[in-house]
Amino acid sequence: MKSSELSLLPLLCLLLTLEKTLISGQMMSSLVKPGIFRHLMCRNNMYPRSSVLRYPVSDDQVFWSEPYSDYCPPVYTSPHIGGQVWADPPLPSDTFRPQWNQLDGQVNRKSFHGAYKLKDGLPLNPIGRTGLSGRGSLGRWGPNHAADPIVTRWKRNDQGAIVTNPTTGKNILQMVAIQRSDNKLWAIPGGMVDPGENVSVTLKREFTEEALNFTDKANMVEQFFKEGGVQVYQGYVDDFRNTDNAWMETTALNFHDEDGSKVGQLELMAGDDATSVRWTDVDSDLKLHANHADIVREVVIRRNAHW
Ligand code: BGC
Repeated sequence: MKSSELSLLPLLCLLLTLEKTLISGQMMSSLVKPGIFRHLMCRNNMYPRSSVLRYPVSDDQVFWSEPYSDYCPPVYTSPHIGGQVWADPPLPSDTFRPQWNQLDGQVNRKSFHGAYKLKDGLPLNPIGRTGLSGRGSLGRWGPNHAADPIVTRWKRNDQGAIVTNPTTGKNILQMVAIQRSDNKLWAIPGGMVDPGENVSVTLKREFTEEALNFTDKANMVEQFFKEGGVQVYQGYVDDFRNTDNAWMETTALNFHDEDGSKVGQLELMAGDDATSVRWTDVDSDLKLHANHADIVREVVIRRNAHW
């Protein structure tokens, strides 16, 4: 490191502390903010389940405000979404006229990051370039809305006492994580919000389908979710499927079983889009799909848990 860089260190530390305070203090959308956040997962790679290479985009070419005159991303929409009930028809079209930036019948075409722009009749990714036009494997043009339940309990020993980390002295949090069948990464057991569906219904449905896969404790699970979760994030997700014209957004809520007597007791069983499910210790080594680890970090801050 150069000495000029060293002298910047205190300022950097201050900025990082401020950012942390901001994140813990208020809105999570500060995690993935248009104009600051640059794509990590959906740039400079092969589009998943295809042989389509994204057009190169360097760190400083991500934002639409940066000129990039040679930018010429391939157009790709996965053949498997054609004709699916959950997917939009192709564009341009004489008959399909989506109502952008609003509730379009039952389909929510609003972004949590404000009004997105349109270019040549197609919605523009609010973060910036991804190196790919079209919808890729996402069903909707513009925002595709998901919901993520972060179900947590405290880690306990055989005697039932909460386990703390010897270094930080803080309680260790555990969360239910599933292994996604599409990219094999561990993730929050979330899913897509169906048209017209209330997010609270999606949260319970996805958790039950992906992590429990049975219904014999249905009443208890129902009650646990009804008691309510704490919203920890609402906004853009740095998903590997995002394109210049279609992207993921999510609403994430934390459902915490404080004494471990409810969902904390359940045997987990992988189902639906999950190949595996487990209670996972939460700490700074946690590697999850997309920016799920950042979302979980917010739960850690709120619960003052070990990280
Ligand atoms: C997943 C959600 C995730 C979203 C964005 C959906 O397929 O079910 O858990 O937040 O994609 O990556």
